[in-house]
Amino acid sequence: MDQRIDFETLYNILGDISASLHSDAHVKDVLETMVMKSAQMLNAKCALIRILNPKTNQLDLRAAYGLSDHYLSKGPVFSEKIITDLCQQNRIIIIRDIFNDPRVQYPKEAWAEGIRMMLDAPITFKNNVLGILRIHFTEPRDFSEEELHYLILIAERGAAVIQRAQIIEMQESRYDQLALQTEKLSALGRMAAGIAHEINNPLAGILLYSSNLLKKAPKEGPFREGLEIIVQETLRCKTIIQELLEFSRPSEPKAVMTNVNHVIEKALHLLENEFRLRYIRLEKHLFDPLPDLLIDENQMKQIFVNLLLNAIQAIEEQGTVTIRSYVSPDRKNVAIDVSDTGCGIPPDHMPKIFEPFFSTKAKGTGLGLTVTYGIVQKHGGHIYTSSQPKQGTQFTVELPIPSGLHQREMRR
Ligand SMILES: Nc1ncnc2c1ncn2[C@@H]1O[C@H](COP(=O)(O)OP(=O)(O)OP(=O)(O)O)[C@@H](O)[C@H]1O
Ligand SMILES: [Mg+2]
Repeated sequence: MDQRIDFETLYNILGDISASLHSDAHVKDVLETMVMKSAQMLNAKCALIRILNPKTNQLDLRAAYGLSDHYLSKGPVFSEKIITDLCQQNRIIIIRDIFNDPRVQYPKEAWAEGIRMMLDAPITFKNNVLGILRIHFTEPRDFSEEELHYLILIAERGAAVIQRAQIIEMQESRYDQLALQTEKLSALGRMAAGIAHEINNPLAGILLYSSNLLKKAPKEGPFREGLEIIVQETLRCKTIIQELLEFSRPSEPKAVMTNVNHVIEKALHLLENEFRLRYIRLEKHLFDPLPDLLIDENQMKQIFVNLLLNAIQAIEEQGTVTIRSYVSPDRKNVAIDVSDTGCGIPPDHMPKIFEPFFSTKAKGTGLGLTVTYGIVQKHGGHIYTSSQPKQGTQFTVELPIPSGLHQREMRR
């Protein structure tokens, strides 16, 4: 049998791999095209792709062609030997003796599957081995230099495709999360607005009558202290209700072109004492010059005060709060990171932190982040959180650079 591949076949395979990226960005589809076409190109029985999972150091099965479910259900496959060999040699490895080669983890099962020989091609991107493309043959055979060269070409093209498709999938899941969060919060917001509206009127009545009574109550009477507490606590409720209403229908931002660094400075000024009294170190890295943004200064200040206060409160004794402003790599947003070396957020709290009234603090109202979220949304921005329990937390606020400015920046 003539085992040489003509240029047209290879061209078609590479074309198919690229097309699978344009037609559908899902990694699985790209990989399935790759395994099937590579096996067909070399007249092989079957092929599979395993991608390295850096967390477990296992080679996770991502696509297979021509192999039985029984064989594929064998797992897990550890990467050590295979990957070190591929990294060191960074070329195709031919496994002729499947029973005595440590790179084959399930030789008996492979034999039962009719496999007599294997060929591993590294899938590398910028010198990092992402995984392997393993092709299985039912009888031993030799390979021409040309065949091996073409296989490397396919694996290289596939690696770029995998890398790009993985980034797209990551972004999609980030957007899905954001959409879910927005939907959940708007439902909660509507409910909260309804309740707040209902409570607002009776509260105004209580405040009016209790304040009047307090004014008339004798200084040294038995009722004075009780009345003072009623007024104080009603005022506290009023503040909470106002914040809730602010979140559910935040007033349209009175947007003016403003340098966000100035707003950050003002928020920091308000919290100077908090930092000093708790011996918390502040690190400030404000990028200068930052493009001006269309923002409501007061609302923006409220965001930074909320995030900074949370950061301060997360640190029990000593620690550092860092605030950083910069232009995002795609130059479309100004981003502000507020990070702390505090207690961190447990993973099961993460989905709840933006919900109204979620608080783990004795005196917290649980509205700080809810209000922050509402304001960021109104400004067309996004807010992201990452946290490691006992290590710290980072909130990132992204705010869009007005499009005219953005184009001017890009032209520079
Ligand atoms: N930087 C942080 N580190 C650790 N936990 C945090 C941080 N920021 C927020 N959280 C968690 O999210 C919860 C909600 O925060 P949010 O600011 O909405 O309310 P709060 O701070 O409890 O009360 P307040 O309404 O007074 O701000 C907090 O109670 C805390 O559990
Ligand atoms: Mg707070």
